[in-house]
Amino acid sequence: MSEQRVAIITGASQGIGESLVAAYRKIGYAVVANSRSIRSGDDPEVVAVPGDVADPATAAEIVKTALDRFGRVDTLVNNAGVFIAKPFTDYTPDDYAVVLNTNVAGFFHLTQRVIEPMLRQGGGHIVSITTTLVESARSDTPSVLASLSKGGIAAATKSLAIEYADRGIRVNAVSPGLIDTPLLGGATPEQIAEFHPMKRAGTVEDVAHGVIYLEQAPLVTGEFLHIDGGQSAGR
Ligand SMILES: NC(=O)c1ccc[n+]([C@@H]2O[C@H](COP(=O)([O-])OP(=O)(O)OC[C@H]3O[C@@H](n4cnc5c(N)ncnc54)[C@H](OP(=O)(O)O)[C@@H]3O)[C@@H](O)[C@H]2O)c1
Repeated sequence: MSEQRVAIITGASQGIGESLVAAYRKIGYAVVANSRSIRSGDDPEVVAVPGDVADPATAAEIVKTALDRFGRVDTLVNNAGVFIAKPFTDYTPDDYAVVLNTNVAGFFHLTQRVIEPMLRQGGGHIVSITTTLVESARSDTPSVLASLSKGGIAAATKSLAIEYADRGIRVNAVSPGLIDTPLLGGATPEQIAEFHPMKRAGTVEDVAHGVIYLEQAPLVTGEFLHIDGGQSAGR
């Protein structure tokens, strides 16, 4: 079995996911990168698997590609996600479907499929990107579907961490505040900064730094690492 470590990263075409691909390459991992629109580039150690992460067939194809091309799966980063902020009663059935399918079904299908190769290898790491809104809701950003979906992942992170704690698989989450990516629909860094007690917008590198910390922290499991400029601490 090959010794080069391998990370699967979803939502890797832009924003936080794109930065995670660069961060994992920097520490020597090969990467299997997924999003609906992603295409392979020049780096032979980054293989793109396009597809909707909500589709179990995509999850199967991603894991098969990791094993066929690189022989192992060491890390899964569940990063693909959508965010729809609305007053609760304005949410449509389509909003509900796209948020739950992308955020929750995507997490479920892929996480389930990486467990077996990780157990065979003797361990692995699963880290999911949630949101600090799960613990600190804001009156100016009603977003129950974010809390419903990412809150479920946060709870599942602790549950999975305990289920696999004595079998070498660590399970963690990163809870970002507001990070300057296309997901925020063109808000300026100055506008974003106002949401954080530290009065600075988050960058994709801030989030990648936290994920790599968790990657390299062998005694840390079941943890939510807040990268939110103090947002979850209070205001
Ligand atoms: N930015 C923030 O302030 C913030 C705060 C808290 C949490 N987060 C979380 O951080 C994660 C990344 O967010 P981001 O800010 O980097 O968002 P982004 O810039 O909108 O990027 C989202 C990524 O997910 C992919 N994606 C969306 N739906 C998908 C699907 N059904 N299947 C596969 N890939 C899909 C997109 O690519 P395609 O369009 O090609 O599929 C894209 O690569 C998300 O889970 C988000 O909820 C972000």
